[in-house]
Amino acid sequence: MRETGSMIADPASVGFDPADPGFIADPYPTLAAMRGLGRVLYYPPRRVHLITQFADVHAALRERRLGRAFRHRYTPAEFGQPEPDDRWPRWAESERWSLLNLEPPDHTRIRRLVTAVFTARSIAAMRPTIEELSRATLQLLLDGGSDADRGAGGVWDLISAYAQPYSVAVICRLLGVPVGDGPRLLAWSHAIVKMYELRSTEAEQQAAERAADEFIGYVRDLIAMRRERPAGDLITELIEVADAGDRLTEDEIVCTVIVLLNAVHEATVNTLGNGLRALLTHPDQWRAIVNGGVEPATAVEEMLRWDPPLQLFERWVLEDGVVIAGREFGVGDRIGMLFGSANRDPARFPEPDRFAVARGESTHIGFGGGVHFCIGAPLARLELAVSLSQLRAAALQLRLAAEPEYQPYFVIRGLRALDVTTG
Ligand code: HEM
Repeated sequence: MRETGSMIADPASVGFDPADPGFIADPYPTLAAMRGLGRVLYYPPRRVHLITQFADVHAALRERRLGRAFRHRYTPAEFGQPEPDDRWPRWAESERWSLLNLEPPDHTRIRRLVTAVFTARSIAAMRPTIEELSRATLQLLLDGGSDADRGAGGVWDLISAYAQPYSVAVICRLLGVPVGDGPRLLAWSHAIVKMYELRSTEAEQQAAERAADEFIGYVRDLIAMRRERPAGDLITELIEVADAGDRLTEDEIVCTVIVLLNAVHEATVNTLGNGLRALLTHPDQWRAIVNGGVEPATAVEEMLRWDPPLQLFERWVLEDGVVIAGREFGVGDRIGMLFGSANRDPARFPEPDRFAVARGESTHIGFGGGVHFCIGAPLARLELAVSLSQLRAAALQLRLAAEPEYQPYFVIRGLRALDVTTG
């Protein structure tokens, strides 16, 4: 592996510190300074080359000589990487056949089978169900909610009382998982995704291992039940899907179900939280939606651009001589694409720091691009737009009750809570 890092600016010189509460509270001024520092920066603690600008992130996502994984082509030793950490075998098993960990040809094969089931048509057909779930969850909240949901003085946390139960209910319905199991799934998901942070503690890793173990057992039981008694749900379809004689194995179905459940809980909930915070701190923008001046589906794109729930995705360089952001990389180099920075790049978005729901830019980098482009984008967009529609109809007087705080993580960006009043 060639060492390119030493010649490149370190983003710490302009304040990049993913563990710093000030950075987490508002990373965008630092990300702007990082764009000014260079198209490529080098972050030594993780040996990653960070790509700061929109055009370069866009191109890197489509570069086929970069991969989310390298094990299909190189051993860890050849790649200058340690052997996989065998302390977390169940976690590794839950990830083994996740689309997010595969590259062609395995990725192409499994993605074809999963997209045969997860089609735009099957998602569009869910609209009435999604509307009903949103309406019912909101109604419960507005009617007084459960004691657990409602805080003092009519204050609600929109994350725990609405966004989470709603989005879990949607994916449960889609997959054919009992909605009552939602809280358990949510807890497993929260634990598992801690493994994706730039730094995670030993305790977090142990919790992720336990969660993966329980989650795998749960999904295997569900598959066994559907094999015995098929139902019209996604798990049954994943079992039955066949393409040119090809089928998904049980292990592949388990990993697919886990990735679908995890993706939904974290990214969609956080987009709703971050986006509603943006709307409520820009009341003129919320009014534009309530008045019908801007369609919810249009506003959703600005929510995803302005404060994305996923800030960083990484790739390995799989061949020598790959040029990214004007620099040449070699086998074993690691690239980190800064989505939040790309989405605020003034070279791509005029007045990028202005939150403008009418902007109508759906080509932001929120759902990625290239072969790993988000399979759930149509579902996420629908869920988010339905939520805005229902909220504007039901809660015209939505107001922030307290300044919301972000969770102390950089890669997965989301609020701890979003306390509002509806009076
Ligand atoms: C607002 C919500 C969401 C956001 C911002 C989001 C974002 C993303 C991004 C950026 C990627 C690509 C990662 C990469 O290139 O390395 C991705 C992949 C993926 N997403 Fe989403 N996602 C969201 C919701 C969902 C939902 C609702 C589902 C499904 C139920 C889903 C399922 C997936 C899957 C399966 C992949 C892997 C695709 C592949 O590797 O081929 N996502 N998502």
